[in-house]
Amino acid sequence: MTHDTHQTVLLQEAVDALKVRADGTYIDGTYGRGGHSQAILQQLGAQGRLLAFDKDQAACEQAQIHHAQDQRFRIINQSFAQLAAVCTEHNLSQIDGLLLDLGVSSPQLDQAARGFSFMQAGPLDMRMDLNQSGTAADWLNSAEESHLAQVFKEYGEERFARRIAHAIVQARIQQPLQTTQQLAQLIERAAPIREKHKHPATRTFQAIRIFINHELDDLQTGLCDALKILRRGARLVVISFHSLEDRIVKHFIRDQSHGPQFPKSVPVMHTASTGALRRIGKAVKPSAAEVERNPRARSAIMRIAEVNHS
Ligand SMILES: C[S@@+](CC[C@H](N)C(=O)[O-])C[C@H]1O[C@@H](n2cnc3c(N)ncnc32)[C@H](O)[C@@H]1O
Repeated sequence: MTHDTHQTVLLQEAVDALKVRADGTYIDGTYGRGGHSQAILQQLGAQGRLLAFDKDQAACEQAQIHHAQDQRFRIINQSFAQLAAVCTEHNLSQIDGLLLDLGVSSPQLDQAARGFSFMQAGPLDMRMDLNQSGTAADWLNSAEESHLAQVFKEYGEERFARRIAHAIVQARIQQPLQTTQQLAQLIERAAPIREKHKHPATRTFQAIRIFINHELDDLQTGLCDALKILRRGARLVVISFHSLEDRIVKHFIRDQSHGPQFPKSVPVMHTASTGALRRIGKAVKPSAAEVERNPRARSAIMRIAEVNHS
């Protein structure tokens, strides 16, 4: 595989879940390398529209080149947390489906210069959006020890968060942290116990990435915005890659599936008691064959909901 490809996860399952109508308008909130977008476009007719988002400039450049001739497609170099504002700007309100395939793409992980991976020697950057100020190194070299520990614990569920934070603060007194390898080796020395089949830096790297790209805040905002732009009967399809994301998606769908809560003694018409969303089926995971083909799919979990009313 070259550095510029991404093996799309749950491709068929996600596009099926969107129930694409040939003349519908859809949003792919996480273009990446366009695997899902391409499959959606294949199901759209001449009247259909696909608006795609990606924070990453490289993803957007690739999209511009790849779909230059396709009038049905438009790429937006912004976060999907701006969904509602961008739709208003483009006069779009009755969207038929939204797909979010969260996290990082393979080109981001595999390009050492992006600094996402402890397996590759690179600068500690980790920004998806290179126009954003504040790299991972900027934060690691300036944050309070207690803040570092809090982020590692909350976003990485790292049990040695405090030890790792302490080791970082000690190390940066001598010399600022600059590379992924420096950080990975420091974590290896600071973490006293190894988890099976997991590099000791896995959780801390995940935590830093989530924090630097405010991934969980974007997800919360994107989900709330979805309710403003999706029409009745539209599908919301979200693929997560770790439990923090999945919990947000699961709770959002659950909370939006209950209507307003009234005391039992209050008579309520059925329509007033239904929520904004209806959960469709159970969480979907990749097949064993897909995980075999693409080990990065192993932690994926997809949830589907349908909009009850606009
Ligand atoms: C897992 S990849 C998507 C892969 C894509 N479905 C495909 O088939 O190629 C996630 C992509 O979403 C982008 N991304 C992550 N969070 C984002 C956000 N809040 N707004 C816009 N793009 C985001 C990342 O830059 C990355 O390119």
